[in-house]
Amino acid sequence: MKQLQGRDLLSLADLTSDELHYLLQLASELKSGKLSIECKKVLGLLFYKASTRTRVSFSVAMYQLGGQVIDLNPSVTQVGRGEPIQDTARVLDRYLDILAVRTFKQEDLETFASYAQIPIINALSDLEHPCQILADFLTIEESFGQLKDITLTYLGDGNNVAHSLIIGGALAGIKIRIATPVGYEPLSSVVEQARALGGEITITNDAQEAIAGSQVLYTDVWASMGQEDLANDRIPIFTPYQINNAALSLADPAAIVLHCLPAHREEEITDEVMEGSQSKIWDQAENRMHAQKALLAALIGLE
Ligand code: CP
Ligand code: NVA
Repeated sequence: MKQLQGRDLLSLADLTSDELHYLLQLASELKSGKLSIECKKVLGLLFYKASTRTRVSFSVAMYQLGGQVIDLNPSVTQVGRGEPIQDTARVLDRYLDILAVRTFKQEDLETFASYAQIPIINALSDLEHPCQILADFLTIEESFGQLKDITLTYLGDGNNVAHSLIIGGALAGIKIRIATPVGYEPLSSVVEQARALGGEITITNDAQEAIAGSQVLYTDVWASMGQEDLANDRIPIFTPYQINNAALSLADPAAIVLHCLPAHREEEITDEVMEGSQSKIWDQAENRMHAQKALLAALIGLE
């Protein structure tokens, strides 16, 4: 799909519904070995926050495509000493073919994208985590053979992962229910954006009502990177939103459980559920690599 070549992915809303489905199909073909792609391009990884899955899955995906990866850790590059994004972006643009950035402010990603011609990928910001959702939807499609009309309930904090699920759900026809404590709801601007795309979204503070009959239960940490100081105070507030066996018993009997990881076991999800037969968490983590390989191939224009 040549229309994706050279584009940025700062938000899932940067994709149309057709482009999202195209990437999932491409990921599935690359995963099965039906399709193979070769390249000699270079991916830069500029991560201002910790990462295991995103860093390693992007690196392995690029190596498997035949390309190279440069880890631009801020502690060893000048960005960590305050070199402006406008300058860094224009210089990296001259060396790299594509750049994935993990940062705090969405505006910083937009600055990278406006000063660099190469594709900029949001590898997680405080607002969104679009690459995660590509892998999540690939996992849901593998489990149910479809995305349309699946009901996904996300329990916990209305954070970056929740925001991308809301937007992605609108593009894919997945019904999204978000259950959070009062005051931790997702941004209403994101919900409105997704509703304008045709999304069926329920925002509630009632976890049990949200779970009833869902095919996918999803959770994430109760305090994201950058909010570590708030973690202990949040535990009693979020405990009613834990995914445990009692919660799972309210869902569709064929329901699957997802978590983007890293998990705080016995906080947002119990050990028993993580290790249980309905957990697809390890397939979901593997799918980060397949989905991002498809994304890299499409944005670089290799497929
Ligand atoms: N899910 C996810 O993005 O994991 P990392 O923070 O380890 O990259
Ligand atoms: N919401 C979490 C996701 C980690 C992959 C965070 O931003 O820390």
